[in-house]
Amino acid sequence: MEAIERVCQFLEEAHTYYLATVEGDQPRVRPFGTVLLYEGKLYIQTGKVKDVSKQLAVNPKAEICAFNGGKWLRVAGELINDDSRDVKVAMLEKNPGLKRMYSADDDNTQVLYFRNATATFSSFTEAPETVTF
Ligand SMILES: Cc1cc2nc3c(=O)[nH]c(=O)nc-3n(C[C@H](O)[C@H](O)[C@H](O)COP(=O)(O)O)c2cc1C
Repeated sequence: MEAIERVCQFLEEAHTYYLATVEGDQPRVRPFGTVLLYEGKLYIQTGKVKDVSKQLAVNPKAEICAFNGGKWLRVAGELINDDSRDVKVAMLEKNPGLKRMYSADDDNTQVLYFRNATATFSSFTEAPETVTF
């Protein structure tokens, strides 16, 4: 399995991850759950009205962390906006619950993909493993 696929699978199995952004000199973090591997990129979903979206527009640097089954994963990189309709549709199809709040054609739905990502798998028992994508 490719590195990016392993990262996606870990996030799917963990269900929830925590997304950190930067606002000035203040870190901001919140729970997220959306993840999609699409055309070789790892995407997350949010709403453009949210503070998290506004923070990423100013500074795309972000880090996520998830924990599952004694292992944890951190992914650091930049989250880049992608306005292509196809990937929004795919994201909503994968997460049908989102359709109550979002549609591919509203002005709010936003998908972003990781660029220059460094992912580290860690556990208490094994040496950390770092991959990039
Ligand atoms: C388990 C869980 C998963 C969530 N997943 C997402 C998500 O994938 N995308 C999203 O925009 N908000 C998601 N939320 C809601 C955000 O955490 C919430 O809107 C948060 O306030 C956004 O951060 P902000 O207030 O800094 O903009 C999730 C909340 C929970 C509890």
